[in-house]
Amino acid sequence: MMSGSLTILGIESSCDDTAAAIVCHHPVTGAAILSSVVEGQTSLHAPFGGVVPEIAARAHAERLDHCVERALAQAGLTLRQLDAVAVTAGPGLIGGVLSGVMLAKGISAATGLPLIGVNHLAGHALTPRLTDDIAFPYLMLLVSGGHCQFLIVHAPDRFERLGGTIDDAPGEAFDKVAKLLGLPQPGGPAIEAEAAHGDPTRFRFPRPLLDRPGCDLSFSGLKTAVLRARDDLISRQSGITVQDRRDLAAGFQAAVAAVLAEKTRRALDHHLAQSPSPATFAVAGGVAANTAIRTALQSVCYTTGIRFLAPPLALCTDNAAMIAWAGLERFRSGGTDGMDLIARPRWPLDPTAAPMIGSGKKGAKA
Ligand code: KG4
Ligand code: ZN
Repeated sequence: MMSGSLTILGIESSCDDTAAAIVCHHPVTGAAILSSVVEGQTSLHAPFGGVVPEIAARAHAERLDHCVERALAQAGLTLRQLDAVAVTAGPGLIGGVLSGVMLAKGISAATGLPLIGVNHLAGHALTPRLTDDIAFPYLMLLVSGGHCQFLIVHAPDRFERLGGTIDDAPGEAFDKVAKLLGLPQPGGPAIEAEAAHGDPTRFRFPRPLLDRPGCDLSFSGLKTAVLRARDDLISRQSGITVQDRRDLAAGFQAAVAAVLAEKTRRALDHHLAQSPSPATFAVAGGVAANTAIRTALQSVCYTTGIRFLAPPLALCTDNAAMIAWAGLERFRSGGTDGMDLIARPRWPLDPTAAPMIGSGKKGAKA
């Protein structure tokens, strides 16, 4: 450690990305990502139409050492120059989480570096502090293929969950709708490209849960509505045209954007009622890459006079820099773990909130 600065290794293996990164924080110059290595597994799982936990776990076990070595080499550091090792200890696919936790324990045992177990969702939720140094509290929307929840981030270890999906995550819905329209995976970018040439008003898909108070969301009924509209077209004209597909994609995307925007407005109302101004809203996750959705969220913030923040996409999707950073925040406030650190497939950020229902294609939702 140099004059109050901290340098932390982060390890991530909870889903289908094997990742290692080194992040440092200096009291004067702030946070810096010294290296960030992400090895995806998309091609390994592609033939199966979803993430296969056993294949993911094996790939993590084979690649983690190598990722850590690359992260150290890129940062020009050795293990002995670090201050601690942080690792995702859940939630996620248990085999992968275990691989990461075992490696981190091994490094800690061999070097004497403190060990820090990190909640993967805390990694996502604390990223705006790594990229933009924003103050607590702030409102966060995690929106990806595996996550969908509104959180007020009060402290590195204190999160208030305002609501989340009761079934599919939005990215999961994009992927399933793409599949049923014969579009490639990942579905999000494919749907967005089709929707750009479509008429979002031709099919008026439901806006699930808008009639109910609160910030919970639901996307599986919307997916079924697209399926019905498709089958209806097929039975009437024995197939769907290119324009039908574009219009279905546009209608679906418009419905997701409308629901996310309205629930964001409600979450912001709640946040503003209890938080000091100026308030910040941050969005993270692969779905935040969608221009229509991003624009809808941005305009909600604009009309409410709230700062809108979206970290760069490489830091919104799964990575280890966010794990190193969340570990650094915990370490700074004195949090470390012993060799009894366990891997947790489920690990809600807000233990007081009602448990989530269902389980996504990318493993258990927290
Ligand atoms: O955050 P991420 O890379 O991984 C996790 O799910 O953890 O998010 C991937 C998800 C996929 O479901 C993908 O279809 C969706 O984000 N996605 C999009 C777009 N780009 C990626 N969804 C809508 N529009 C996009 N442009
Ligand atoms: Zn994630």
